[in-house]
Amino acid sequence: METVQQPQAAPEDASAAQPAERTDLVPIFIMGKRYNVPSTLTIQKAFEFAGYQLIRGCGCRGGICGACGTVYRLPGSPKIHVGLACQTVVEPNMYLSMVPFFPANRAIYDLEELTPEVTTLLKHYPELAKCMGCNTCTKSCPMDLEVMNYVSAAIAGDYHRVVELSIECVACGLCAARCPAELAPFNIALLIRRMVGRHLVQPSAQLAERLEEIKAGKFEKELQKLKNTDKSEIEKRYQELQATKGASV
Ligand code: FES
Repeated sequence: METVQQPQAAPEDASAAQPAERTDLVPIFIMGKRYNVPSTLTIQKAFEFAGYQLIRGCGCRGGICGACGTVYRLPGSPKIHVGLACQTVVEPNMYLSMVPFFPANRAIYDLEELTPEVTTLLKHYPELAKCMGCNTCTKSCPMDLEVMNYVSAAIAGDYHRVVELSIECVACGLCAARCPAELAPFNIALLIRRMVGRHLVQPSAQLAERLEEIKAGKFEKELQKLKNTDKSEIEKRYQELQATKGASV
């Protein structure tokens, strides 16, 4: 499946179709083709400005879903740069390519049957033992996570540390795309976070109590009232709540 749909009858150089008087444009190259786009756009918006319709590799547009992993090169540098297309602003003469999906190992398991041990990890992700500590994964992370450190913590069985270091992972897959040992660090961390949540964290007594109250119908009256409330009133309350939160920060 295509990541982007080419613009209909895209010109060889899209700058030719843009007004000559614009001075805020910078040249970028998408899949090798040159376009002039406003210098303030994110890569994602630059794609759209150039006439591409994003049909994959585009989700939340807010740096959360990890769908828009992008690699690019800059003039005069052999380095492969990475970023989320929805968060990274274009730079003059960047050569762009999107990697919205990378075929990485994703284990199938029944969480209830797993025991939180290194042997469990190695059974589902045996390639974990091949990590050579090159740090390429950390350098590839658009979220600036210490990926290699959480891989090391995983091997050492320090699962709470893995959770701490990987909790902001957006699963864009760029670490797996670059790992020479063919690990999928983001999937390994996901398994560990699940194991920790299911088997190593003490259940919250308050949560259990509240669930019992809900099951017993303690809040039924309020819920019904809420269901019958006009949508505009709910929106108003939500805005007020957000304003209160903002004021208290
Ligand atoms: S579109 Fe969701 S992280 Fe970029």
